[in-house]
Amino acid sequence: MCGIVGYLGSREAYPILIKGLHRLEYRGYDSAGIALINKSLELSVYKTKGKVEDLENYVSGKDVGGTIGIAHTRWATHGEPNSQNAHPHYSQSGRLALIHNGIIENYKVIKEELISKGYTFSSDTDTEVLIQLIEYMQISHNTNLFDAVQLALKNVIGAYAIAIIDKSNPNQLIAARKGSPLIIGVGDKETEFLIGSDATPIVEYTNKVIYLEEEEIAIMHRDGSITVKNLSNVEQTPIIKTLEMNLSQLEKANFPHFMLKEIFEQPEALRTSMLGRLNMESKTVRLSGIIDHRDKFLKANRIIICACGTSWHAGLIGKYIIEELTRIPVEVEYSSEFRYRNPVIKSNDIVIAISQSGETADTLAAIKLAKENGAFIYGICNVVGSSIARAADTGSYLHVGPEIGVASTKAFTAQVTTLTLIALNIAEEKKTLSKERTAELVEELQRIPEKINETLQMNTRIKLYSQIFTYAKNFIYLGRGYNYPVALEGALKLKEISYIHAEGYPAAEMKHGPIALIDEEMPVVVIAPKRGMYEKVLSNIQEVKARKGKIISIVTKGDTTVKELSDFCLEIPDTEECFVPILSVVPLQLLSYHIAIAKGRNVDQPRNLAKSVTVE
Ligand code: AGP
Ligand code: GLU
Repeated sequence: MCGIVGYLGSREAYPILIKGLHRLEYRGYDSAGIALINKSLELSVYKTKGKVEDLENYVSGKDVGGTIGIAHTRWATHGEPNSQNAHPHYSQSGRLALIHNGIIENYKVIKEELISKGYTFSSDTDTEVLIQLIEYMQISHNTNLFDAVQLALKNVIGAYAIAIIDKSNPNQLIAARKGSPLIIGVGDKETEFLIGSDATPIVEYTNKVIYLEEEEIAIMHRDGSITVKNLSNVEQTPIIKTLEMNLSQLEKANFPHFMLKEIFEQPEALRTSMLGRLNMESKTVRLSGIIDHRDKFLKANRIIICACGTSWHAGLIGKYIIEELTRIPVEVEYSSEFRYRNPVIKSNDIVIAISQSGETADTLAAIKLAKENGAFIYGICNVVGSSIARAADTGSYLHVGPEIGVASTKAFTAQVTTLTLIALNIAEEKKTLSKERTAELVEELQRIPEKINETLQMNTRIKLYSQIFTYAKNFIYLGRGYNYPVALEGALKLKEISYIHAEGYPAAEMKHGPIALIDEEMPVVVIAPKRGMYEKVLSNIQEVKARKGKIISIVTKGDTTVKELSDFCLEIPDTEECFVPILSVVPLQLLSYHIAIAKGRNVDQPRNLAKSVTVE
């Protein structure tokens, strides 16, 4: 959601900023803009509705000189997506330009106040209010820009990551954050700074970064110095960390889309994710996040999993496996509901927050609430150094490399794998599972990447099937037990990238309503592996068949019974019941990918969606 990039140094800023915007495109946006200060101290702002490419066409032939600049991809919250509302926004005098990710919740009150003081506004955004307020603070308090930013931010309610440039001082770049992410890259040349919503626009130039903390403001100078203060004006020592990311992870390699690349990366991604965590000699699992806080897990009364979207689906599978292996009760909550409904949280509760990006605003707020109420927080994130990872008491990273496709794929299977490791490790500590059974599960878990590889061999066949279903206006996905959340995930994948309406249901619930939708047009995807409630699902398939629904089944290799009842059948290797979701989701990922491609959709950047939802 929205992308911020900034540059201050000795190189020309424009190419760096445009490349940075392209790297941030995956986050989802509707307009783009750039501001540069040239040698003659002129501040130029160019912005347009549409893609970064449209911005490049728009600036063609115009002055894009300058060694300082900021650029933005906007995901509209206040005001429609048009060039007027796109960022950067100017201050009244035209001296300052600002880009912003987040929402200024009290913008209306501030706007009215500023209007009464003679300020005029050229956009409908909450963002423009902020830059006007900053300038107002600077003039009315007769102070420098840094102090004015600090004063203005003290008056602001909401979330922000901002960057500001001032044409009267092209040697400084100011950035601040609260609630929305912002990273500062310290250039290898030492006198160069980059800023980004995430590391993707930075990694090409440096691997030294500073993660700005909540309510911190940074001022970067052309001589390479940087000062960071919090809103209470206390100076903070910036800690320089090393990025784990490398540039090749941000390229599509030989794949036409990031989504397909990430689906195919799953075997290797899961291997890396489990690396050092599976001990094949002792056939046990070791997660430092669990071992270091053993007592917390032994005393845990309950586990609450908070997440959104695909991560919530992974959480649901986590509930099944953690309850089965550890006998600790687990509740799975949508972060957005949990945070606002005054939930019962006790000090011996453990909250597991799952978030690929580690920046989802609702999940971040949910863990803050749980923490305030004394719960212990375990974060499962992919993005290293992300806000949720930092806010958690402990946790595990997925280590699957950047996920660029908006539709989550490899992060989902890694989240399920990590939850499985958590369940196995707690079970061992609590002795709720025999050594022999643990060993069997650990051995099978190690075989899972190879079994995904085998599953991926169906890609060509799935592509063929997909062409047949482009006509469909609706899809139903059914699964039971461990595969019910997979049905939800399969439906979400299809909706997100093909824009076909799809519903996931626990197969037995079909009779309680959705069965009315079934006719000869309706494709019904049924996950029916041999393990689990096979016979029961078989009856559910018969019910669909009796009403002439088109059955696409996911079955265990060699199963002929379901195959005979199905119009299309996809076979996955046999595995332990609790590991089936990691395999059964793969054909569903491919199915939605190919249907979306056949319908001509932009799978990596589907309409209206953002990769990380940093506003609530
Ligand atoms: C996944 O395909 C979706 N784009 C979306 O549901 C996503 O899983 C959700 O926004 C949560 O994101 P997070 O894991 O980064 O918190
Ligand atoms: N709220 C701001 C706007 O609508 C920023 C949105 C964003 O984060 O892109 O312009």
